[in-house]
Amino acid sequence: MDRKIYLDNASTTYVSNEVMTEMLPCFNTIYGNAGSLHSFGRDAVAILDRARDRVKNAINAAKANEIYFTSGGTEADNWAIIGVAHANANKGKHIITSKIEHHAVLHACEQLEKEGFEITYLNVDKHGLVDMAQLLHEIRKDTILISIMAVNNEVGTIQNVKAIAKIAHDYKILFHTDAVQAIGHMKIDVQDMDIDLLSMSAHKIHGPKGVGALYVKNGVRIDPITFGGNSQERGKRAGTENIAGIAGFGKAIELATRNLIEVNKKLKTIRDYFLEKLSEKVDYFQVNGHPHQKSNAILNVSFYGIEGESILMLLDLAGICVSTASACTSKSLLPSHVLQAMGVPDEVAQGSIRISFGTNISKSDVDYVTDEIQKVVAKLRAISPIQAGRV
Ligand SMILES: Cc1ncc(COP(=O)(O)O)c(C=O)c1O
Repeated sequence: MDRKIYLDNASTTYVSNEVMTEMLPCFNTIYGNAGSLHSFGRDAVAILDRARDRVKNAINAAKANEIYFTSGGTEADNWAIIGVAHANANKGKHIITSKIEHHAVLHACEQLEKEGFEITYLNVDKHGLVDMAQLLHEIRKDTILISIMAVNNEVGTIQNVKAIAKIAHDYKILFHTDAVQAIGHMKIDVQDMDIDLLSMSAHKIHGPKGVGALYVKNGVRIDPITFGGNSQERGKRAGTENIAGIAGFGKAIELATRNLIEVNKKLKTIRDYFLEKLSEKVDYFQVNGHPHQKSNAILNVSFYGIEGESILMLLDLAGICVSTASACTSKSLLPSHVLQAMGVPDEVAQGSIRISFGTNISKSDVDYVTDEIQKVVAKLRAISPIQAGRV
């Protein structure tokens, strides 16, 4: 069995040739430390500056100095939540987020709870949209931050980020959004959307792993969470800059935003075709997430009466790579916190897989994958004690 089909692009993506070309000289030619005063250091700074400019342009930030490079989306989320909480604790200790955030946000919030902060976790509706009435209701005098993700990594639902930012600012509260799954899939304009802090990651957009950035609007108070070199990232994020990774990220985000419309058109065509073929071949399943306000890259499907992990393993034997939830929680057998928050019953949530598309997937790949899903589902249902039609 030689055929390998990768449908787990929300977990990570391959690094594109253009990005690799951009990165290569940083390993053995322009390998200086950006903190050094000599020419090698200056060359490294020039790479940092170019990448910072590219990220700035991709999200339409007002100034390049509003971009801080990090080790990825997790650090950007941790820093936004904890850094803003610490810097603004004199104003209040209440933060609002949602139940469907990535664990990089949720676990940072849990950490703050241990320090005496209070966190409100908003409900979402059956499509995964944040409850706006509850948001308004939960705002308090001591609320300092609202953090709501732009695109959910498990079901792809796109939040009404601009409207939430407006509510936050009406009450003089800072607004952070985790845009890790949004970059390259929807237009992000931090000025138009009035965003104060925004997390990004390179490896979801054909860049390298272990690098990302946090956009921090000038004037926003945020404490560092890493301590060391004072000159690095303007004293806000210590640690020798990952020049090769940052160069790759700059190129990846430039390409992702330049190709946004074309890529999305392709992804939508392939996702719609996938759903059409799946519906022809398999019955008793549901699609989770918003029916249209969602990323074209992500399709979350629950097959009634069977387990997502079993589907994943049998598909893997056929060379097809999907996931059951986000990559970080896929090794735990707990039902997804996102599907639970959306009101999907546990027994249905257990039968879920996430298919996340890349533009390299052809219609013939989809024909093969849906054929295999048909076989796998039939096989598992034949031995399942639960009858799918009765779930
Ligand atoms: C929505 C979201 N936020 C944050 C992260 C973490 O990003 P990274 O893998 O760069 O640490 C991910 C990665 O899966 C994600 O999907």
